Amino acid sequence: MARKTIEIEVDEHGAFNGSELKAQGVLSYDQPLLATATARSAITYIDGEAGILRYRGYPIEQVAEQMHFLQVAALLHDGELQKDDALRDAVFGAEVDRDRIAAVVQSFPEGSHPMAILIAGFAALGASHPEAKDVKNGEMRKQFFPIVLAETLELGAQAIARHAGVKSGQADGDTYARRFVRACGGAVDTSRGDEALDVFGKALDVLFVLHADHELNAGTNAMRAIGSAETDMYSSLCGAAAALYGPLHGGANEAVLRMLTEIGSLDNVADYIERVKKHEVLLYGFGHRVYKNYDPRATVIKGVVDEVLAVAGENPLLAIAQELERIALEDEYFVSRKLYPNVDFYSGIAYRAIGFEPAAFTVLFAVARTVGWLCHYDELMSGDFKITRPAQVYIGSGARDLP
Ligand code: CMC
Repeated sequence: MARKTIEIEVDEHGAFNGSELKAQGVLSYDQPLLATATARSAITYIDGEAGILRYRGYPIEQVAEQMHFLQVAALLHDGELQKDDALRDAVFGAEVDRDRIAAVVQSFPEGSHPMAILIAGFAALGASHPEAKDVKNGEMRKQFFPIVLAETLELGAQAIARHAGVKSGQADGDTYARRFVRACGGAVDTSRGDEALDVFGKALDVLFVLHADHELNAGTNAMRAIGSAETDMYSSLCGAAAALYGPLHGGANEAVLRMLTEIGSLDNVADYIERVKKHEVLLYGFGHRVYKNYDPRATVIKGVVDEVLAVAGENPLLAIAQELERIALEDEYFVSRKLYPNVDFYSGIAYRAIGFEPAAFTVLFAVARTVGWLCHYDELMSGDFKITRPAQVYIGSGARDLP
């Protein structure tokens, strides 16, 4: 170890140009990219210490209360509030090759994880749209935004239905989420009738809004990194969805429900917390790379859970989740590490009440996040960029001759 002092110019955002470090003979070793910005973005703002999230400047609480998912998608994509519902019309009117999607989905054995189907489905859709390879063509990207959203609705719903071993349904309804619920067919709880399905659709719309974008997480970083090789948007979506699949990222909602089910009763909560503190297990749905405060999305989701359970009936897992939260918010282990519930802590309870299997949860996240991924892809392609090519610190053998 040696100390080296360098002088470097920072801009008004506190950022310096990384290549200047290299020019001065030093590298930043930053495997999780904790302090390395890979984008200048105008889409989403987060202040993790204060628990603030804004889409294009608008607070998430206002957006979730007043806007439906496709209005939010239009805002995120175009940068300003839209006066009409043009995006909704374009998504609902888009030509989707349902049979092609069904052929891909049905090629997977029943019970296959729906995220695996979704990832493969994005690749297959890419093969159907070779024109998406013209990545620098802004007009093409604009035209494809509603098409990809319409295809993703169909693909996600069919993947979920395939995993559940039920028939998918006909997308129908006045919002993206209501159509999605219908397209899932028997994979959602249809036994409570149209009114309940309406409530589920409204709840899902809010959940979709909350998941639509979250700046540079692992999935979005993957989308940009893959896109930086001038890869088409569908192939880039495969990589973004694969990153999201992991249990530390979008897969956490599924992990939360499995954890709550494993805990099983209020009597076992204290023991589970002790195991967490011994680092034997994680408290899924807690902690966040950026939020060192309550995740503002988790606050909104609590209200959604109440609305869904009012229709679906009480869920004993909710009481376990609430007890975990109560203990964790008082316990030194969590307080000192600034671990608070994140977006995934309560979302699974709402999804489960709607009737979705835990394996479907990450698909729901991915369907919503496709908006953010496409917006970041568009932002990347609209500006100057170079292929992402991180440096490494080589720690292997020096040059040697074969014996
Ligand atoms: N349960 C128990 N301990 C935790 C947890 C947790 N959920 N999260 C962090 N810690 C501990 C961690 O072990 C470390 O302890 P120590 O200082 O003793 O080594 C300390 O807190 C700091 O954690 P970290 O690993 O440096 O935090 P990170 O910013 O690298 O990780 C995280 C963020 C989200 C990966 C992590 O909090 C985690 O694994 N949470 C559980 C999975 C989860 O809920 N993920 C969903 C994230 S939100 C949805 C999304 O956007 O994907």
